[in-house]
Amino acid sequence: MDNLSGKVALITGAGSGIGRGIALACADEGMDVILADVQEGTAQAVAAEVEAREVQALAVDLDVSDTVAYEWLAERVYDEFGELNLLVNNAGVMTAGPVSQGTRADWDWTFRVNLFGVINGIDTFLPRMRSQEGDAHIVNTVSMAGLRLNEVVPLGVYSASKHAALAYTESLHDELAAEGIGVSALCPGGVNTLIGMAERNRPSEYGGPSEEPARGFSPGTMSQQMDPEDVGRVVLRGVKANRRLIFSHPELRDQVERRYERIMADFEFFAQSAEELSS
Ligand SMILES: NC(=O)c1ccc[n+]([C@@H]2O[C@H](COP(=O)([O-])OP(=O)(O)OC[C@H]3O[C@@H](n4cnc5c(N)ncnc54)[C@H](O)[C@@H]3O)[C@@H](O)[C@H]2O)c1
Repeated sequence: MDNLSGKVALITGAGSGIGRGIALACADEGMDVILADVQEGTAQAVAAEVEAREVQALAVDLDVSDTVAYEWLAERVYDEFGELNLLVNNAGVMTAGPVSQGTRADWDWTFRVNLFGVINGIDTFLPRMRSQEGDAHIVNTVSMAGLRLNEVVPLGVYSASKHAALAYTESLHDELAAEGIGVSALCPGGVNTLIGMAERNRPSEYGGPSEEPARGFSPGTMSQQMDPEDVGRVVLRGVKANRRLIFSHPELRDQVERRYERIMADFEFFAQSAEELSS
């Protein structure tokens, strides 16, 4: 999808951080933007910034784990905008700390948003995107945590959810290529957002919200990290080129290499043992 002007984007988790950055980048390209977020009023605030760029904005409160609300939203989007050209499944939460200490509530909440929230967005919109005439592209916000393990702080539960989201996204990229529908996984490193305060959105059935930062984070932890508006511009570069993975932090390549070196070391161990066994 080379030319984004006049096209329509929907972004979840658009009320803050990377979602807001992507929404503003879309508006700068001349796209109309639908902004969805679970945190009341935040999508509306970003919608005002989008409209200031002289494109259309629609803000909605949406919990990405709510499939009924998603269906309702899809009907509204196709009624009001005709079609959807860019779906960005970006909403996410982070639970931090040693994986062995992750509670059942941590696992359920994290996967419900970071994996099933993405699946819900695609299950709802893909059938409609398949039958529309215009271009279609899907971006799922994953993370470098989908490719590395515990490089910065222990994030095992979060990493597991992001590994799953990455595997899902890569499979979808391959499956939809023949239909001309683009799919990309956005894999950022550190970005200056409120992700360290994700507990603010924890639903009551998983222990309820807290204004405490995640373990290993402080309110200022992310302040030195990348500007989310820069990430938004990188995302659109990735969409235009239909990249399978979108990297905003290419300098973190060595972390992925270290991960694969560790995997290869085990292959080498067993290759050697197989030789020893056969001799
Ligand atoms: N900030 C980073 O360093 C970083 C790095 C890699 C990946 N990510 C990913 O980027 C995405 C965006 O996070 P961010 O860093 O901008 O954090 P953020 O907390 O600033 O923004 C996340 C947004 O998602 C919304 N959200 C949370 N649960 C939701 C739900 N159930 N339904 C709908 N919206 C919901 C929040 O209200 C918030 O507006 C996440 O998927 C996160 O895992 C962030």
